[in-house]
Amino acid sequence: MAATFIRSRIARFKSPCHSAGDFGFDYIEDGVIALEQGKILWLEPCETLRRQGFDFSACEELENSLIMAGFVDAHVHAPQLDVVGAYGKQLLDWLNRYTFPAELKFADASYSYAKNQYFVSQLLAHGTTSAMVYTTSFRHSTEHLFEIALAKNMRLLAGKVMMDRNGPSGLLDSPESAHRDCRALIEQWHQRGRLGYALTPRFSPTSSREQLEVAGQLMQQYPSLWLQTHLSENRDEIDWVKQLFPEAQDYLATYEHYGLVTEKSVFGHGIYLSESEMQRIAQRGASIAFCPSSNLFLGSGLFDIAGIKQHGIKLAICSDVGGGTSLSAFKNMADAYKICQLRGYSLNPLEAFYLSSCGAAQALHLDAFIGHLEAGYEADFVVINADTHPFIQQRLKSCSNIEEELFVYMTCGDERLIAKTYIAGQLQYQRAA
Ligand code: GUN
Ligand code: ZN
Repeated sequence: MAATFIRSRIARFKSPCHSAGDFGFDYIEDGVIALEQGKILWLEPCETLRRQGFDFSACEELENSLIMAGFVDAHVHAPQLDVVGAYGKQLLDWLNRYTFPAELKFADASYSYAKNQYFVSQLLAHGTTSAMVYTTSFRHSTEHLFEIALAKNMRLLAGKVMMDRNGPSGLLDSPESAHRDCRALIEQWHQRGRLGYALTPRFSPTSSREQLEVAGQLMQQYPSLWLQTHLSENRDEIDWVKQLFPEAQDYLATYEHYGLVTEKSVFGHGIYLSESEMQRIAQRGASIAFCPSSNLFLGSGLFDIAGIKQHGIKLAICSDVGGGTSLSAFKNMADAYKICQLRGYSLNPLEAFYLSSCGAAQALHLDAFIGHLEAGYEADFVVINADTHPFIQQRLKSCSNIEEELFVYMTCGDERLIAKTYIAGQLQYQRAA
């Protein structure tokens, strides 16, 4: 297959990941990215190519555009698009009043398939090329998501929600049925194409000890699995965990006891972690999904980014839709910036974009494949362009460098800035003219 050449402005973070503060940022004012068989063949400034006698007529030329690595959303709920912006409740009431009823509708297989199709199309329209996704407790909803993502050749991680208590009966599985369903899903989908299976106990309050034990057994049996769950999001939730698990030292211990804190584990939120919990998460090499829009919308609290970073914990900025109100990485970066401001930490644009792309890939243990625009990496990227966003177009005129431009995108931008989304070198989304 012949290579494809695209000429544009390009901004990227060079490998390896540099979470300590040097983000390996590299801006190319005029460059070409060459794609072949789903991967990046090379990426060079035009200056270099001109010296080598490269034939630019082979290039697709993009005007007013910036190519960047696709966004990676390390915590998002596929069945919750229809509860985005549901009024007036904090976490536990919000789950009962809006979220569980929305997930119950996925019992209907044709409804589930259509909603999963919509979800994937929305990820692409928002420039999200990879995600770690909670589905519902219905096995078929995970199958649908995997089938749709496989057809688009996406690098996507997902799992069936495990929950066997404290929810509506229609959503509850059992330790036995969860074991059976997870095994079947793992055997069928894990490491198929670019997919991966993530064990997904919803959170400690909705899993019995027996079910957490099952998750631990599966993790041991299949060490290449991921694990995702929620941790320390809301004060009432934390009190509830204390009542349900009086034997546990703290919230993290309810997962630790069952072998669920590993370098492939991603914990959503982590707003109220103790010093000891942060130390243990860091020691195990697990990651935290910072979900700023959700934390503000559900009134959960202000994430302590400095504390998490001091402990060297891997971190990603995520949407947590439907607790979060937008799938757009730009909007989640904007909310992250504001939360950080309130915590006395200035989140610079390079760090924000880093935590939404290659830093998130690192948090998901996928940074050997995605997040870097370099030869050999998978060609998942977005074309950012403000042509249909007059306000930003105007505002960009007063930016004097790429960092200011990125900061405007993240504070004022939304999915209208995404002109194209490429998955494994194929154009999978293009904004309407
Ligand atoms: N904790 C348990 N389930 C959920 C969920 O669906 N969303 C959020 N934000 N927190 C949770
Ligand atoms: Zn969540």
